[in-house]
Amino acid sequence: MESFLIKGGVPLHGEVTISGSKNAALPIMAATLLTDEPCVIRGVPHLSDTHFMAEILKSLGAEANFHNGSLAIRAKKIRGYADYELVRKMRGSICVAGPLLARLRQTRISLPGGCVIGARPINLHLKGFEALGAKIKIDGGYVDASAKKLAGSTMFLGGRAGSTVLGTANVMMAATLADGVTVIESAACEPEVVDLANFLNAMGADISGAGSPTLTISGVNELHGAEHEIIPDRIETATFAIAAAATNGEVTIKNCRADHLRAVLDKLGDAGVSIRQSGDNLAVRRGKRLRAVDVTTLPYPGFPTDAQAQMSALLALAPGISIITERIFESRFMHVSELARLGADMEIEGPSAIVKGGRPLSGAPVMASDLRASAALVIGGLAAKGQTQVNRIYHLDRGYERMDVKLRKLGARIRRVEEE
Ligand code: EPU
Repeated sequence: MESFLIKGGVPLHGEVTISGSKNAALPIMAATLLTDEPCVIRGVPHLSDTHFMAEILKSLGAEANFHNGSLAIRAKKIRGYADYELVRKMRGSICVAGPLLARLRQTRISLPGGCVIGARPINLHLKGFEALGAKIKIDGGYVDASAKKLAGSTMFLGGRAGSTVLGTANVMMAATLADGVTVIESAACEPEVVDLANFLNAMGADISGAGSPTLTISGVNELHGAEHEIIPDRIETATFAIAAAATNGEVTIKNCRADHLRAVLDKLGDAGVSIRQSGDNLAVRRGKRLRAVDVTTLPYPGFPTDAQAQMSALLALAPGISIITERIFESRFMHVSELARLGADMEIEGPSAIVKGGRPLSGAPVMASDLRASAALVIGGLAAKGQTQVNRIYHLDRGYERMDVKLRKLGARIRRVEEE
């Protein structure tokens, strides 16, 4: 297994270019199963998760080839049965269920199960499929979904924590080939859902309202091949902005969508970070002094849960008390005890982490537990004096394209080494 060795305390300086969004790419890759014609997706980031999704598509019978920054997929002849072992390894793979159900009228896919950040049920995905007329059976760890025909209907897909991103994506994809009109109320408004809707419309679907809580999908008889460019990754953007602020650096972030990141940029401003937008660039510079702020994660356009861990690392450096409340995934505080190894003063109180910020951080060996917690530990290590070893960075490689290379270009002293 690999780790990052970081010699911290070096302010980041220079320019970094943001890659395509992982969480937009995964459902868009799955959507190519809806047609037997070729599709080309540009800007798919090279990550273990996207390569893994390509493997899943191949296991279903599709051809998928990365070439010159594009991914060409053709799902000419496919089967509806996704391999248990493959699906189990990546939760995002659940979004092949909607397209398979739509195209083949049946699918058998393993239940994705929980993960370290929380329970992660799929009841809302299944509720949506049932509302379209599918019969659902849970059998031996698999979900069997089948329908003689799918028929549009009106449904409410809100759950305990609000809307569901992949649930909305899955049901929207299934509804594209249903008879009649589907209305999804309490739909997720995330930019990744909008990107998927744009791709589906380019394939010939008829979807309106994407980006709002009411999605309307008028079913069509068939979809055709299409080309699409993935939106920039808003969470990678947030991560580099936070890293620049945490190291007292000055970084220009290129190829980003500030309009997808208002909640994060607003909080960074409150925390004393200067942000200047010019076109699709963001210039980030730490102000003189960081300030404590309270952060609550919420569905879009609220503060994203996927940037909560990274923000926690920054607030550990801000003098005063910050309260960070996690409203989406109940266990998403695995980074707290590891940041404490670097000297951060943080405690978990129910759904919140209380951060007594402003203590200097010093390097230590730490363990990555999930993707965004890993990013928080890298940020902590970059800001800490001395050497930090972040172990198990395969979590990080799932969602950040060459993060070590990008950080080195900004002057960070970071190396990828084999864990001893
Ligand atoms: N939920 C249910 N029932 C469901 C589905 C979700 O109760 O059927 C609950 C979840 O337990 C959670 C909330 O609804 O409390 C939101 O979960 P959501 O379904 O929106 O999460 P997801 O679609 O499985 C995607 C991203 C996550 C990101 C969340 C929230 C992908 C591949 N994953 O997951 O990304 O945290 O939306 O924005 O798009 C990451 O990139 O690190 C990551 C975990």
